[in-house]
Amino acid sequence: MNTFPKGFLWGGASADFQVEGGFDEGGRGLLSHDYETDGSLEEPRHHTMKMPDGTLIYPRSSFFYADEVPPEAEPVFLEDAYYPSHKAVDFYHHYKEDIALMAGMGFNVYRFSICWSRIYPNGEEEQPNKEGLSFYRNVINELKKYGMEPLITICHDEMPMNLALKYDGWSSRYLIDCYLKYCKTLFEHFGQDCKYWLTFNEINAVKGFGPCGTRKSDGHVRYLAAHHMFVASAKAVILGHEMMPDAKFGTMYAMSELYPASCKSEDVFHALLERRENWYFIDIMARGYYPSYAKQIWKHHGFDHLEISDEDKDILKRGQLDFVSFSYYRSNITQAGDPWFNVGGSINPYLETTPWGWPIDPLGLRHVMNTIYDRIQKPLFIVENGLGVIDQADENGYVEDDYRIEYLKDHFKAMRDAINEDGVDCIGYTMWAPIDLVSLSTGEMKKRYGFIYVDMNDKGEGSLKRTPKKSYYWMKEVISSNGSSID
Ligand code: BG6
Repeated sequence: MNTFPKGFLWGGASADFQVEGGFDEGGRGLLSHDYETDGSLEEPRHHTMKMPDGTLIYPRSSFFYADEVPPEAEPVFLEDAYYPSHKAVDFYHHYKEDIALMAGMGFNVYRFSICWSRIYPNGEEEQPNKEGLSFYRNVINELKKYGMEPLITICHDEMPMNLALKYDGWSSRYLIDCYLKYCKTLFEHFGQDCKYWLTFNEINAVKGFGPCGTRKSDGHVRYLAAHHMFVASAKAVILGHEMMPDAKFGTMYAMSELYPASCKSEDVFHALLERRENWYFIDIMARGYYPSYAKQIWKHHGFDHLEISDEDKDILKRGQLDFVSFSYYRSNITQAGDPWFNVGGSINPYLETTPWGWPIDPLGLRHVMNTIYDRIQKPLFIVENGLGVIDQADENGYVEDDYRIEYLKDHFKAMRDAINEDGVDCIGYTMWAPIDLVSLSTGEMKKRYGFIYVDMNDKGEGSLKRTPKKSYYWMKEVISSNGSSID
């Protein structure tokens, strides 16, 4: 069989602060990411902050970095800095056009994240922000108009600034209540139209000030914050199932593959231990209990105890996920003696890499799908995968991106084999990202992922004109043939 299962969900994925912009419109409150500058592979992006004596500091807090932020440091906007989230690619004003373009490819699902501070600007108001709700109501109506299923990420690596500054983000248990109130509002307003929900994005990768709002990111703080997120997620699943009996919940994991660097027993065993750093998050949330190896992970991170009450254990058990969703971009290798990276690792000499050093490994996707499914036995949803590279547009904004087509074709074949040959249950695929957007790790525009080109450079200059690339038309055929056109 060379097609995907009937009813397979085909679409794209994005995150609010990487596409929306409109950071000071519609009553939106500030997010941690609003103070994060642009950067590059060589020059990591950073937050701009001020000490009480006026000294400026620049802690890095994005994806691969989580510098400690002194307790007395306050965020500050600098006139000469560029903050990509403020404008992003202006989906806030272009959503109708962008959704129409996605519909033109035949998408039947679109994964997007709701900006927490657009709904609760400070994260703890009594009432939600009506303008924020009406923006997402319009987005959802637009998706429904074209028969697209919304797949909503409730929290994509972000934190309302007030919750970070006042409570130190997820290190505080109080955040569970704030998150639950936010979830309840979303379920009340959008529940009748939205079946698929992701409680968090890449929960196994986030740490530090930008995504979690914590000033420290040592092992104890990180795993305490994660515990609060586990309980918050489980409570949201329980509540969501009560309020929307047909709804399905997942959480998104960064599950790029990790291989042992050699067949030396020590390297193979090291890879197993290191990989558990990711399994920890899936096991707790999808199986509903802390695994037997939890203490070993904590010890590795310099602490040996986390307070987990019986009540929390019961919540985790009752709030298990319905499906497992994950991102897959690459594979890396590891060997005995290496530090544990929970994302990344060393380069595999057998693989080519992107200009940003991400190894390309389609078979790794089939491998990951099998290992997750073998272990968890719940449906999978691949909610991020794609190629970030420099595209050369012609004078009309058109890009001949054959390399992107090749990348996707190889990954789709691997995915199809996992489903049809290996028997993995996978319900859908959302490519990162349907439209060019701001890179999370580097803040650049030139690391482009989209089927649709956006005329904008790293400093936010350009007409913002949207133009379908060659891959757009290719993807349209893939979807209309449910995958058979890739042969
Ligand atoms: C995922 C994130 O980790 O990777 C996205 O969920 C991110 O937000 C994507 O954009 C690709 O990473 P980058 O750094 O190339 O944007």
